[in-house]
Amino acid sequence: MQARTMARASSPLLPCAAVAVLLLVVVLLLLPSPSTAGDPDLLQDICVADLTSAVKVNGFACKAAVTEDDFYFRGLGAAGNTSNTYGSAVTGANVEKVPGLNTLGVSMSRIDYAPGGLNPPHTHPRATEMVFVLQGALDVGFITTGNRLVAKTITAGDVFVFPRGLVHFQKNNGDVPAAVVSAFNSQLPGTQSLATTLFAASPEVPIGVLTKAFQIGTKEVDKIKSRIAPKKS
Ligand SMILES: *[C@@H]1O[C@H](CO)[C@@H](O)[C@H](O)[C@H]1NC(C)=O
Repeated sequence: MQARTMARASSPLLPCAAVAVLLLVVVLLLLPSPSTAGDPDLLQDICVADLTSAVKVNGFACKAAVTEDDFYFRGLGAAGNTSNTYGSAVTGANVEKVPGLNTLGVSMSRIDYAPGGLNPPHTHPRATEMVFVLQGALDVGFITTGNRLVAKTITAGDVFVFPRGLVHFQKNNGDVPAAVVSAFNSQLPGTQSLATTLFAASPEVPIGVLTKAFQIGTKEVDKIKSRIAPKKS
């Protein structure tokens, strides 16, 4: 009698509980995993990059002999050399320059712009970027996957954000040099500069891909290629 009452009382609750658990599982599956927001989480205090190791891991192998200089870099103090095609220079302070950054999920760079200089449209596949303007003024922007341009003119003291993976640029339309410091949530954000990626890849992107994608002729492709230097690394 008692068991029957209990069964009768609890049976309408069972489907409810099952639905709640199912909903919870669905919500948890839909939530982005925290580890996809940037570089993977670290499993130890430090893992200073052994940049010469042949061991292939996600990041760099840890080296045994660590010194304070593995966490130190002086390269952002001076302006980069902007005497190049675009009139801009990026100086990285990433894991390749600061081995102590390995597994820590952050890095910085300094970007200098001559008057008229452009940091051409590019993306960072592994990081969101925040720029802080040290001097001068810049017209900056990024383009969403919905093809909306989000753009602004920023000056010394301003901060602007370029969301991870989105194409963005900075142009110095002033008549004095400009400079920014950038922060990234990756030890090595990676850069794909659109023009260089498409027109200076090695081996070359098939010309038929470029002529059809940009609706131009082979002459125009050759002209662009002749003016874009191959990517350094
Ligand atoms: C800057 O780069 C240009 C072109 O590569 C070079 O001719 C010039 O000597 C460099 N200037 C400095 C100060 O290094």
